[in-house]
Amino acid sequence: MIPESFIQDMLARVDIIDLINKYVPLKKAGANYMACCPFHSEKTPSFTVSPVKQFYHCFGCGAHGTAIGFLMEYQGMGFVDAVKELAASIGMQVPETRDHVGGAEQSGRLRRLSERMSEAHVFYKAALKKSERAIAYLKKRGLSGEVAARFGMGYAPEGWQALQAVFTDYASLEMLETGLVIDGDNGRRYDRFRDRIMFPIISARGEVIGFGGRVLEEGDPKYLNSPETPLFEKGRELFGLPQARQALRDENCAIVVEGYLDVIALAQHGVGNAVATLGTATTSTHVQKLLRQADRVVFCFDGDAAGRKAAAKALDNALESLADNKALAFAFLPEPEDPDSFIRKAGKAAFTRLIAQATPLSDFLLREVSARCDLTTSEGKARLI
Ligand code: UTP
Ligand code: MN
Repeated sequence: MIPESFIQDMLARVDIIDLINKYVPLKKAGANYMACCPFHSEKTPSFTVSPVKQFYHCFGCGAHGTAIGFLMEYQGMGFVDAVKELAASIGMQVPETRDHVGGAEQSGRLRRLSERMSEAHVFYKAALKKSERAIAYLKKRGLSGEVAARFGMGYAPEGWQALQAVFTDYASLEMLETGLVIDGDNGRRYDRFRDRIMFPIISARGEVIGFGGRVLEEGDPKYLNSPETPLFEKGRELFGLPQARQALRDENCAIVVEGYLDVIALAQHGVGNAVATLGTATTSTHVQKLLRQADRVVFCFDGDAAGRKAAAKALDNALESLADNKALAFAFLPEPEDPDSFIRKAGKAAFTRLIAQATPLSDFLLREVSARCDLTTSEGKARLI
């Protein structure tokens, strides 16, 4: 039996639009895509595919399903073969498990974990509405209520065990697995996030898999993030990806920034196609994920030394994802700006220009490797080559 967690994980990474479009040319119609239904004969299209729900549905014959269902119906494949084909298309290996009970238990555990994250999210959102201090902070940062709602922002209240009000089994082992609580040295359990603005990290399937939390004013650490859990792997996830999906398609371009607030400020100023890594370097998985949804990826890092270092690292990890029909580029902001401060000061048009004029990967690569060699000597020139 293939573990349910693997199937969910795979469906989260496959893009149903890309898949179906290979067999049935799709046309964009509002939020969805449409075509004449491949499963019954018709002259006007009633077959729709939703990029958000990752589902197809025919209003004519009622055919509907996920990417797996489509391959089974269209190609006449069995379930296991459809899963294998989809997994292979995105470079995933189907795990083999013979233990049926184990698989079911595992998926139940993941589902409960996901439910807990969602319950915590509801609590944090409600707490934001109640906290004048937190609202004042967001206003001071220039955020509208609308954009805060779009990103599901919340507030973790002060106090050591605020989440005890949400979870009756606050002391359980499963609670610890969520990463929402920490066991102290003295054996006392307490909330990881206290008195922080909360940013939910949402998977492609729309589930909350982790949080980032920012202090309201000064404090160390400035950001606290969920630890990795069975739901949450930082090297795979990008903040803002589900919210950016539509804009990624419209622009056919993804902008990678460093911070949660960069993504949110850009969205508020009409740049909806930005995502952020989660306090980690950009991985090749991140790049591959984005290149499945847009043909161009622009890394837009801060103009400081740390930003240049992050860009060099992204460059290294992006190289293996290069393809002829894809473009990668690097945009650098004038020091000391970050995308958030830049777009507030200079406006959308200036930011969009910066992205349009980003340095192509090949130029940036040459500049980077040249800087690592002493070109005044023939040894240095040889090393560059
Ligand atoms: P920045 O320090 O650039 O913060 O960190 P920011 O996003 O611009 O936030 P503001 O504007 O100061 O409020 C960029 C990203 O690095 C991670 C977070 O993901 C953050 O969004 N980070 C930063 C951490 O994980 N921990 C930290 O202590 C600081
Ligand atoms: Mn910032």
